[in-house]
Amino acid sequence: MTTSNARYPASEALWERAKRVIPAGTQTLSKGPDQFVFGATPMYLTSGQGSHVRDVDGNEYIDYPMALGPILLGYGYKSVVEAVVERMRKGTTFTLMHPLEVELAELLTEIIPCAEMVRFAKNGSDVTSAAVRVARGCTGRDHIAYSGYHGCQDWYAVTTPRNRGIPAATGELIHAFEYNRIETLTALFDEYPGQIAAVIMEVPGADPVINLGSRRNFLQDVAQLCKKHGALFILDEMVTGFRYSLGGAGELFDVVPDLACFGKGMGNGMAVSALVGKREFMSVLDEVFFSMTFPGTPRGLPLPRLLLRLLWLSLLSSTYGKRARGFTRGLGRGRRSGGLTWKSQGDHQGPGLLFVMITER
Ligand SMILES: Cc1ncc(COP(=O)(O)O)c(C=O)c1O
Repeated sequence: MTTSNARYPASEALWERAKRVIPAGTQTLSKGPDQFVFGATPMYLTSGQGSHVRDVDGNEYIDYPMALGPILLGYGYKSVVEAVVERMRKGTTFTLMHPLEVELAELLTEIIPCAEMVRFAKNGSDVTSAAVRVARGCTGRDHIAYSGYHGCQDWYAVTTPRNRGIPAATGELIHAFEYNRIETLTALFDEYPGQIAAVIMEVPGADPVINLGSRRNFLQDVAQLCKKHGALFILDEMVTGFRYSLGGAGELFDVVPDLACFGKGMGNGMAVSALVGKREFMSVLDEVFFSMTFPGTPRGLPLPRLLLRLLWLSLLSSTYGKRARGFTRGLGRGRRSGGLTWKSQGDHQGPGLLFVMITER
């Protein structure tokens, strides 16, 4: 669809240039114009302050998805900006390790229930892929059961429609199950006995259902099934981490996975992610190859430390919870008076709402 809009001439001109020099036009598919109504929304944002952003045409908006999840504290948050500027002055990366690697790893082991050891990376895809490699390394098995989205690396991307360039054999090793339907996971363990290295899943908004027989919730059922079959349970906390609670969905729903993957909300916009987990499994990283130039750089690491402190304080004063509830009530009023239909995905507890999607009737 190519309808243009007088509000967005600069956005549309940039998009025309982008299509010529950037394959797919964008670095992040979820930010591309085909995700929105073409002509009805801006395409390029240039700055943000708090929850407000400005597009390249000078229009101002409230950014509800907050950069697809990372901006927990808001744009231009003063102490975050100061921490980044200080770090730029002192040096962003060095020839040797930096003490922050140790300090932040220790902090995460205090906050996240399953975290006995920690490795850092930049993107969510880095750590979900590392988790899968660790699970395969620990079990000597190749098959993976999954539910939800887990990034752009071969092992997962093969399940998406954009799977050109990935060897077809990769797709034979990964199998989907359905969130909140434990029988679909049981069926996979029956179909691939002794072959599943790991179950990886996210908590996609809806709370895990309680199994009326056992009184366990879905996540606890998954953990138990993994244990029974000798597979590792990997909780992908990219969206839920530091949001549902400081320790993530695992803490909120009272389950301790073997490994967990954090990213997005860790650095208020700085690229940093973490693979955390139980020592017996994480130790295999002594032998599994997982090493890149940037993960340990102090450029991103001060941010999680600062962010966690601020979120902890906010949780104590329940600021986020109160605002999220107020926002939800406001949306309810808007729906009644404005004839809007809306659907809120996720929980209103912890540091914030997940996503709210508003659609016109
Ligand atoms: C649940 C989940 N896992 C993994 C990823 C991949 O993270 P990244 O895009 O930082 O590689 C995402 C990104 O949206 C995600 O939502």
